[in-house]
Amino acid sequence: MKIAENVYWVGVRDWNRRIFDALIPLPKGTSYNAYLIIGKNGKALIDTVNPGFEKDLEDKIRSLTSIEEIDYVIMNHAEPDHAGAIPHIMEIAQKAKLVATGRGAKIAQIYYHVPQQRIKVVTDNEAISLGDKTLRFIEAPMLHWPETMFTYLEEDKVLFPCDFFGSHLAGGIYSDEIEDLLVHAQRYWGEIMMPFRAMAQKALEKIAGLDIRMIAPSHGPIHRKPERILSAYKQWAAGETRPKATIAYVSMWGSTDAMVKQIAETLTSEGVELAFHNLAVTDVGDLAKDLVDSRAIILGTPTVLGGAHPLAVYVTYLFKVLRPPTKFAVILSSYGWGGGAIRQIQEILGDFKIEVVGALEINGPPTNENMKHIVEIGKALAKKIFEVGA
Ligand code: FEO
Repeated sequence: MKIAENVYWVGVRDWNRRIFDALIPLPKGTSYNAYLIIGKNGKALIDTVNPGFEKDLEDKIRSLTSIEEIDYVIMNHAEPDHAGAIPHIMEIAQKAKLVATGRGAKIAQIYYHVPQQRIKVVTDNEAISLGDKTLRFIEAPMLHWPETMFTYLEEDKVLFPCDFFGSHLAGGIYSDEIEDLLVHAQRYWGEIMMPFRAMAQKALEKIAGLDIRMIAPSHGPIHRKPERILSAYKQWAAGETRPKATIAYVSMWGSTDAMVKQIAETLTSEGVELAFHNLAVTDVGDLAKDLVDSRAIILGTPTVLGGAHPLAVYVTYLFKVLRPPTKFAVILSSYGWGGGAIRQIQEILGDFKIEVVGALEINGPPTNENMKHIVEIGKALAKKIFEVGA
């Protein structure tokens, strides 16, 4: 598929993939986008594809040019979903050099056994000319691995940022044709980029001076109208939140369920937007998406086996490592014969910077008094939520 003059998408669509990193659900599959640039004096392949799709990539390149003529394989990122087919391509393209950052070169040797003499290390702002096409490299470390870089095709003003600006969608070509694109992009941000907000801000500042007509990421649709995704990324990287709270809870016999539903009712009545996740059935990708712009989290868990429910332990840990911009927390818990859940949730949160507006642990089903207390906590939380935006 041609995306600019002599620039082609040669990626693959993985319609059936349902899990990534054994962690992230992929309800819509994903794509591994690779791009072929045919210049007057040279040919370059930007990124490759996930292992198992080598032949698909090979066939797509062969329909446009001979792989043996490729001069450069650009490795923007070393994770196997993009670099996994490097050994296959480098084996055929015997004259090709692998282009990577210094850190990328080390990873390429360890993971893909690319000999040092076949690697061209590039530094920030260095360029390679293909005659009428110039590839400029922009180091963008920790987005989301240490070796990551962007490639900018100067003449066509196309930015290839690998995972950055991506979304896990197998279908679609251009993002402006996908109505709910930002939902998928936000989910992707929450899952992959949110822990690296400071590095994302640096990268956004770096590319601010570039004239970008198209952003061609390595997952999901291409942004031929990049303003929308750029604007969303600026907000997310800055940690801008909305008057929104995310409830993440689990209940065994209905008591914690009743508690979180009461605070949900109160927050909704106070005008707070709510995302409601029952951890027994929720998709953690959806939860990550909601944490991107939530101002508060309500964690609900019973005590089981002397501590918080294992699902709540997992999600509290996930919450902490995803480093969302959430400012406030409430913890609600019910126990049968001995507490301990709230203590454990607070231990997991550790030094994570968040204001706990209320923590309530009750014995058995909530009484009317307990419910009144929850309403008070909900109102106090709503007040704090709106004060942020005031
Ligand atoms: Fe899509 Fe970090 O690889």
